[in-house]
Amino acid sequence: MLIRLKIQEMDMNTEFKTDNISVAPMMDWTDRHCRYFHRLIAPSVLLYTEMVTTGALLNGQKERFLRYSEQEHPLALQLGGSDPKDLALSAKMGEDAGYDEININCGCPSERVQSGAFGACLMREPELVRDCVKAMKDAVSIPVTVKCRIGIDDSEDYAFLEKFIDTVKDGGCNTFIIHARKAWLKGLSPKENREIPPLQYDIAKQIKAAFPDLTFPVNGGIRTIEDAKEKLKAFDGVMIGREAYQHPWFLRSIEEEFFNTQNMLSRRQIVEAMIPYIYKQAELYETPMKSITRHMIGLFQGLPGARKWRQSISTQAHLEGTKPEFLLEIIPPTTVIPTER
Ligand SMILES: Cc1cc2nc3c(=O)[nH]c(=O)nc-3n(C[C@H](O)[C@H](O)[C@H](O)COP(=O)(O)O)c2cc1C
Repeated sequence: MLIRLKIQEMDMNTEFKTDNISVAPMMDWTDRHCRYFHRLIAPSVLLYTEMVTTGALLNGQKERFLRYSEQEHPLALQLGGSDPKDLALSAKMGEDAGYDEININCGCPSERVQSGAFGACLMREPELVRDCVKAMKDAVSIPVTVKCRIGIDDSEDYAFLEKFIDTVKDGGCNTFIIHARKAWLKGLSPKENREIPPLQYDIAKQIKAAFPDLTFPVNGGIRTIEDAKEKLKAFDGVMIGREAYQHPWFLRSIEEEFFNTQNMLSRRQIVEAMIPYIYKQAELYETPMKSITRHMIGLFQGLPGARKWRQSISTQAHLEGTKPEFLLEIIPPTTVIPTER
């Protein structure tokens, strides 16, 4: 009986393609400390860096912007830029640094990004994106992928995206991660642009049907396992953003449900593993503890004691002289009992 159940479970898990289940690139959130923390929770999901601009890499800050821990693999570097030569050089730096994939940002709506002529406004220039992709593909042998929206401003609903994909694929891109809402480049803040333009998965589905040889992970608004399962039936992958950051244990559910990973760490073990990491970062780079612990605030989200954990991190990690071991003292006691050690 138990064996049959296990086999059923395995069958269920093979139903889904897992190589494109990822945590989204998020500026100021998915820095390398956050990714190290996420990796402890979820050993298999693909992680993305925050967007790194070609300017930052080419103007001598390469070491700082490309730094990561080996544990973070599989790891994709997201680039922001619009000059094929600069993107090719930056992609090569990423490959040489050991990244597993290079992604170009064609979805970010912020003003700062628009003035640099990259991000979502690049969707208006598919030929340029094609040339950028081609230059990057020629420079590296790891995959080059594109993250985009379904459109911008008052672009036609389907035809605009179809033209974008049809053009850019000729540069050699096989994987398009589609954030299934438009970017409205005038009048909305980046935050509003992640909430107000409606999600239109149907357009992304139409695109997937039109380009059966390409790979389309979908992004936007995925917050439950049921939803992730539904999306994985229709698409080639899911990319999870805010839910992964604000409620990181969701990544554990993802890992259990789709990867069938065994012997994962409990919340307490994860906290324990972060302590030597905090010491090491301080020693190597003088990283303040609060720059790391700020990403751990959501670890107990939804459990009794979560608020106290959050408050204690927000106050104590900022105080002079606090040792990283304080984290062990503020773990909510209830979480030790049921399924945790
Ligand atoms: C704080 C924050 C920063 C973001 N920064 C980036 C970025 O650097 N590059 C990018 O392509 N998208 C960025 N995004 C968008 C996310 O990658 C994702 O597309 C969006 O949040 C929708 O997914 P979600 O509903 O699962 O959060 C950011 C989102 C947030 C919340």
